Amino acid sequence: FFQTVASPPSSNFLLLGPSGAGKTAFTTLLEAKSSLASNKSHSTHTSQQSTLVTVALPPTVPTGSNRYRSVNDPSLKEAIRNPIKYRIKDTPGHGKLRASQGISELQTMSQSKDIKTKLRGMIFMVDTAALVDEATLRDTATYLHDVLLFLQKRAKNGSSSKRTTEVPVLIAANKQDLFTALPPGAVKENLEAEIDRIRKSKTKGLLDASADTGLEDEEEILGNDEQEAFSFKLLEHEVGVKVDVVGGAVKGDLQEEFGSGVRRWEEWVGMCL
Ligand code: GTP
Ligand code: MG
Repeated sequence: FFQTVASPPSSNFLLLGPSGAGKTAFTTLLEAKSSLASNKSHSTHTSQQSTLVTVALPPTVPTGSNRYRSVNDPSLKEAIRNPIKYRIKDTPGHGKLRASQGISELQTMSQSKDIKTKLRGMIFMVDTAALVDEATLRDTATYLHDVLLFLQKRAKNGSSSKRTTEVPVLIAANKQDLFTALPPGAVKENLEAEIDRIRKSKTKGLLDASADTGLEDEEEILGNDEQEAFSFKLLEHEVGVKVDVVGGAVKGDLQEEFGSGVRRWEEWVGMCL
């Protein structure tokens, strides 16, 4: 009934997002909370390399397979004794490192056939105080667009017999402690609208290109080719890739509003397990 052997981490999550979003701060906090923290310290400045860390899910966070864990549930005692561990890969968000690190990690991890190392979920972190800046919004949405397009291609190429499971996406709307931060709902709307603009200019570019060459371009459009505006709902409906936008904060005290600043993100992770 009780699992007595400490289970090795068998679930991997990938952390992407633009530079300065708080990815390393988040991974460092999870490590510290897990008390699995090794002595090696992580630099708080811009990352240049990806790092894989093992962290533990707080015992009170329900998992997808154990959704209704109550305080009296014996499985809670077990979870305290033997917390569920997972691995999270922090990547550098600098524009010049996205192709070689972020996107390429996504390719490698999402193609892993080993059940022990397969990608369970992807967290895309954004700085919600920086998104009011137009250039930052464009940059963030461009990165997110590329990531989602990769997941869409992956979903469409997987033959129905092999049935690739879609990788769920969490948009972690970080820095909600700052009073200039956009609330998660506005973050969602702004990103959707900006991705729609990127999509439109891409479609236009493709039309111009095919007018030039007279050839149909193979390049795919995110969501669908219809005139409908882009939304994460549309992506879920058309492609099966689920995107959730959830607010939180790695720093600052959000005890009242968020339980703990990262609790809701941990709950999202839990539901993927
Ligand atoms: P790259 O490694 O360049 O991709 O950036 P990153 O996403 O790893 O960002 P990092 O974790 O280094 O955080 C950037 C800055 O944001 C640091 O100064 C953090 O202390 C700060 N920061 C992170 N999370 C929060 C938050 O929730 N609130 C506030 N106010 N600051 C935060
Ligand atoms: Mg970093």
